Amino acid sequence: MQGHEIKVTFQPTGRSVFVLPETVLLEAAGRAGIILQTPCGGRGSCGKCRVRLVDAPPDPSPASIGTLTPEQVAQGYRLACCTAVTTPLVVEIPAESTFESTQQILTADSGADVEVAPLVHKKRFTLPPPSSEDPRADLPRLQAALGDISVSPTLMRVMSGFLRDNDWQGTAVLSNHHLVALEPGDTTADGYGVAVDLGSTTVVGKLFDLVSGRECAVASQINPQVTFGDDVISRIMHLREHDDGLAELQAATVACLNAIVSELVAKADVRSDEVYEIVLAGNSTMQQIFCGYDPSALGEVPFVQAFEEAQILSAASLGLKANVAAEVYVFPQIGSFVGGDTVAGIVAARLDQWDEPVLFVDIGTNGEIVLANGDQLLATSTAAGPAFEGARIRQGMRAATGAIEKVIIRDDVAINVIGDAPPAGLCGTALIDAAAELLRAGIIDETGRILPVDELPAGVAPALQARLVTEGHETRFMLASEAEAAGDEAIYLWQKDVRELQLATGAVRAGVQIMLRRAGLEADAIHRVLLAGAFGNFIRRSNARRIGLLPQISGDRIRFIGNAASLGAKLVLLSDRERDYAARLQTQTEHIDLSLDPEFQMEFGMAMIFPSADFDACED
Ligand code: FES
Repeated sequence: MQGHEIKVTFQPTGRSVFVLPETVLLEAAGRAGIILQTPCGGRGSCGKCRVRLVDAPPDPSPASIGTLTPEQVAQGYRLACCTAVTTPLVVEIPAESTFESTQQILTADSGADVEVAPLVHKKRFTLPPPSSEDPRADLPRLQAALGDISVSPTLMRVMSGFLRDNDWQGTAVLSNHHLVALEPGDTTADGYGVAVDLGSTTVVGKLFDLVSGRECAVASQINPQVTFGDDVISRIMHLREHDDGLAELQAATVACLNAIVSELVAKADVRSDEVYEIVLAGNSTMQQIFCGYDPSALGEVPFVQAFEEAQILSAASLGLKANVAAEVYVFPQIGSFVGGDTVAGIVAARLDQWDEPVLFVDIGTNGEIVLANGDQLLATSTAAGPAFEGARIRQGMRAATGAIEKVIIRDDVAINVIGDAPPAGLCGTALIDAAAELLRAGIIDETGRILPVDELPAGVAPALQARLVTEGHETRFMLASEAEAAGDEAIYLWQKDVRELQLATGAVRAGVQIMLRRAGLEADAIHRVLLAGAFGNFIRRSNARRIGLLPQISGDRIRFIGNAASLGAKLVLLSDRERDYAARLQTQTEHIDLSLDPEFQMEFGMAMIFPSADFDACED
């Protein structure tokens, strides 16, 4: 078979794979276990999947010519998503093109105390054997000991044999009033559940002891769906364009969850058949793909979900490694892109229980915002993500090794790079920092224009002026010189990057404005802003506020609350009452669809302008 296939070797790892002729390089890399960045979903427009072909690179595809610079093409760079393998290749993968497993994954939640009363619980039983005085049938005999339980036909088929083989004793595993399994001996001390935060980019799983509530292990993975595009719309487009697209994405997700469960049980030294319950929280698209429900309707206006109420699925029917009787609880959803992860976040933050108005903000690939004003809960989502995730930013990258993650500008520029490596690009937090700091320095004006040297206000430090490069009508600002950078080019904040940031920020800001208006509140009435999620936990509050991403309120009213979706999933896993609470909050929360809101475009236009002055430049 290998005789017909072509060898592709990837550097610097040295991994080789054999692929059929015409296989796209992106897929070949995936087979070698190398996940490349694909924010545009392999459409040849983002340029993030570029790789360098060491010897005799094939002729560049039209997409490679259109997206890469002539110098890059001449140096052998090609887009992996648009290059077919026709001859043996040695492919050099630049650090910034990989979707590194070292990227910052937020696994911590705020660790709130939890009542432990899970839906799944165990009960030890000993039954009197049948006799001529007591010839009752087996099921009522068991029900006399366990209460009014229901038993599935599958379990009925083995029940009688189990009772006789085990001397009429054992442990019953119950979910609510349903008998899930019968186990020999006393296993009441053993039972585990997994809480999953299924993000578009990362998947975090936690194993809990269902008896004590103790967290036993944590495992995380990059969501393998990233191969089909960074944002949910790219993935929806993929499954629309491919007959087996949904099955492909669902299988990749299940495989990822199985890898996580395997790692969790190995770390905790338990068996996967001791996992009786899985609770999963994700955005609407992720949850629907996981369930195998077509999310295509989320890809067109009006964005419509497949379900609202929580879904209960059989783990075995999904192919998940857990007890055969284990069930998967998938969080209820609120509307369009406000999905289960937001409900989990509302549960975790107890948003209905605050005395004063609270704004919950979770900025990931999408931005979800919930405004709680007493009993009133309003939720919306905005297309905030791509810029904050480093996509559509000319030298942007995810928060992985080599990414500039912090920028401080005084008389000159200081940067912090993840992994203490030479800078290869900038991630979302650095984008916010750079824009905020340049606004303060007077180098960017309120319209978002990077000013050329001859238009700068007086007093801009010479070292900063020296970093400005003007070509034609556009100016860019150098964050790291060619000598400092990992690659062979300096790293800049480009004018286009600032425009992308304005789009992303404007969408969130307009969403907040519209919700405040619906609630009859001014920004100053917000008692707390709760920042949740991966991105929220890494941004600097004063800079996010300077560019208008967060309301103009004092820094001490802005709090990070960790991975709220993960905490919500844990609460629901460990307590049956939390499920009812999640269901109540889902019903109570009013969804605001910004795509249908007549005020949105006007608000959005106004929100693109940066706030005129620093509210409070306190350090974070
Ligand atoms: S250009 Fe290849 S994934 Fe975007």
